[in-house]
Amino acid sequence: MDTSSATAVPDTVQVAVRIRPLSQRELAKGYENVIIQPNPPEPRLVARGQEEFTFTEVFGPEVDQLEVYERSVKAIVLKLIDGFNVSILAYGQTGSGKTYTIGTSFTGSRLTGQVGILPRALLDIFSIVNAKKGKAAADGTRYRVCCSFMELYQDHVYDLLSHRQRYERLLGIREDVGGGVFVPGLTELAVASAEEALRWLGHGAGSRATAPTSMNKESNRSHTIFTVILRSSGGTSDERVTISKLHFVDLAGSERAKKSRACGDRLRECIQINKGLLALGNVISALASHTKNSRNTVYVSYRDSKLTRLLQNSLGGNSITLMLACVSPACYNLEETLSTLRYADRALAIRNKPTKSSPSPSLESGSSSGTDALERLTKTVSRLRVENEKLRQRISAELRPTFGATANATGKHLLAQNRLLHGQLKASFEESTRNELRASIAENALGRLEPLVITEMIPDPTLDTSDSEPKSAEELRRKCLEVLLRYRTEYEALRQRPTAQQRSTI
Ligand SMILES: Nc1ncnc2c1ncn2[C@@H]1O[C@H](COP(=O)(O)OP(=O)(O)OP(=O)(O)O)[C@@H](O)[C@H]1O
Ligand SMILES: [Mg+2]
Repeated sequence: MDTSSATAVPDTVQVAVRIRPLSQRELAKGYENVIIQPNPPEPRLVARGQEEFTFTEVFGPEVDQLEVYERSVKAIVLKLIDGFNVSILAYGQTGSGKTYTIGTSFTGSRLTGQVGILPRALLDIFSIVNAKKGKAAADGTRYRVCCSFMELYQDHVYDLLSHRQRYERLLGIREDVGGGVFVPGLTELAVASAEEALRWLGHGAGSRATAPTSMNKESNRSHTIFTVILRSSGGTSDERVTISKLHFVDLAGSERAKKSRACGDRLRECIQINKGLLALGNVISALASHTKNSRNTVYVSYRDSKLTRLLQNSLGGNSITLMLACVSPACYNLEETLSTLRYADRALAIRNKPTKSSPSPSLESGSSSGTDALERLTKTVSRLRVENEKLRQRISAELRPTFGATANATGKHLLAQNRLLHGQLKASFEESTRNELRASIAENALGRLEPLVITEMIPDPTLDTSDSEPKSAEELRRKCLEVLLRYRTEYEALRQRPTAQQRSTI
């Protein structure tokens, strides 16, 4: 396989539209196909016989998974190995084929025609990395692949690869000194093969929030991000490490509550999903309006939702980004399909700043930035976890009756020590998670206050605000109070949350 991706690096968001076939149910109901691709493979389509769109690629209902991967995804994915950050986002109405296209719910062990792009990408990445490992052994370059998997459910980030209970998998979002966003404490697992990574994908997807709705019998109720992290170190620059990341984002689908007749939990989920997607739409519009030649700076409201904060780098940042806009061709979904196509059309205008990651000092060489310190701690925690597990195994082996009385006494002592260490470790985890959440709540409040202050109290002379009415002091005061009230409520809710110790005594 050719590892040097000679293809150009796109600096605008690439958009491929995928039209899924009509389902058996839709065919039985006699729904008409209203999205036509007049001259395939020309990337042009016509909706409702009149509205035209042109994208980077358009895949009709007859195009299979392999062709989508080969034509739109493979070249971009392989840029990871050249040191670029890559993001692939599936966007679209519920039931339009996002999870099918990404392949997030892959559970098998081999590629069939139905398998989506993520498993295909993992196989290609490992085949290249393993070939490179063989060649690099001589010059001392080391490659390490890790993966992480998180979901954003009801505006909360959960670690899908953690071995802990669901309520203990809750994580916060933080900003590093350079303004980048990261999720401290997120499990990053080193993986040696595509098969191992796929096992973790299946494991994580198994605990993702999914429920049947009238629009999709396996509807995802959360957004997920599966990330492949490639680290290379050694070679000529011994102490330096190059890190590049590939994100697969499987968004939850937009849905009209009236149409899906959602109620109870489904309705609450639907409201949160639509809220996040609305914030994403606003970010896309703001970024799209900021063309290469425009002089005005545009305020991009990344802080309006956790989803937009997590995707900050993928949209307008240091990343090669592909949006896979999935649509249904059926007439009864026309409104939603048009809305997706307009959304996707705007995304085409977003300029990114993809740059090759440059080698930076490895964690061991003592960089002092906050992110590095946190990464170092995460590494220590993983090491402690492994040691803890080993200790546990040693103790249970030593406690076996055949070992006799002395071994039993040592075993008991070790067991007690292990329990103590485990308790301490758990307490520090809990404390650190609480601190993250505290910081996250405060940052969110700051994020809501900032635009009020920036756009209302300190007018930007480069912005044309002649059309907008200035807000009265009273209105501003009311808005600030709203933010503060929400901050206090969220903070109080966190304070009231019982600690692990309190939970165990209840
Ligand atoms: N291109 C396609 N070819 C064949 N079947 C498809 C295609 N796209 C989607 N499907 C089928 O349509 C159904 C809905 O797809 P999927 O679950 O991927 O939707 P989704 O966009 O992820 O929805 P949600 O937002 O509710 O999670 C599934 O049964 C899937 O197998
Ligand atoms: Mg889905």
